[in-house]
Amino acid sequence: MWHGGGMSHERQSKSESYATQLFGTLPAWWNDVRDAGEQLRPGIQLAAYEAGLVAWLLRLHRAKRILEIGGFVGASALAMVEQVPNAQVVTLEREAAAATLARTHINAHAEGRITLMEGDALALLHSAEITQTAPFDAVFIDAEKRHYPQYLKAALPLLAPGALILADNTLLFGAMSGEQLRANVSAESKTAMAQFHTILADRTRFDTMLLSTLEGLTVALVKH
Ligand SMILES: C[S@@+](CC[C@H](N)C(=O)[O-])C[C@H]1O[C@@H](n2cnc3c(N)ncnc32)[C@H](O)[C@@H]1O
Repeated sequence: MWHGGGMSHERQSKSESYATQLFGTLPAWWNDVRDAGEQLRPGIQLAAYEAGLVAWLLRLHRAKRILEIGGFVGASALAMVEQVPNAQVVTLEREAAAATLARTHINAHAEGRITLMEGDALALLHSAEITQTAPFDAVFIDAEKRHYPQYLKAALPLLAPGALILADNTLLFGAMSGEQLRANVSAESKTAMAQFHTILADRTRFDTMLLSTLEGLTVALVKH
């Protein structure tokens, strides 16, 4: 979710609204789930357009087993199971208040298709608990920006050959394309994001593109 200014951002925001009105298919209850997240901590969840785009990419990939790093109150994981046929999601979330809300939402809307693991993703990604649920066809990274390279390195052994990697906020509110750092973006996050993209720019291992959404969505395929 973007709160930045400027004409081009305004135009992009309107374009995303237009696309969502035309092609967005998330049900009304999804907005209620997302609204509950906004009450807890505003501005950190995928907007409806982004959730639709992520789900569409997962659908194109025919992902059946999806790993999510940074689940918050469950909105993005619920968009995935709602819109990706027969998909199962394992979502990692360390904040207790968010995880509690996520459990309620998952019980109400996901019919056993989302497993929430509560704890620090960097520990969980190395745990036996998650190894038993691997391999995954896709990973969606949406947690702390300064840890993206570590999430990626820890997730890679859990991915199937040819898996899809999706990562949100990878333009860091303009910081990666030369704009001044905003108050909510640290120099450490910028360095980490550059490292993340350096890893994914290795064409012997990955086939990568960065979609220039308001927030930036990096999309990569793990080469066989
Ligand atoms: C951007 S929000 C996720 C939003 C969610 N994907 C959505 O769009 O509905 C990031 C979440 O990652 C969680 N998080 C951050 N660092 C984490 C870590 N190391 N392990 C697990 N969760 C983490 C935060 O508590 C927060 O809920």
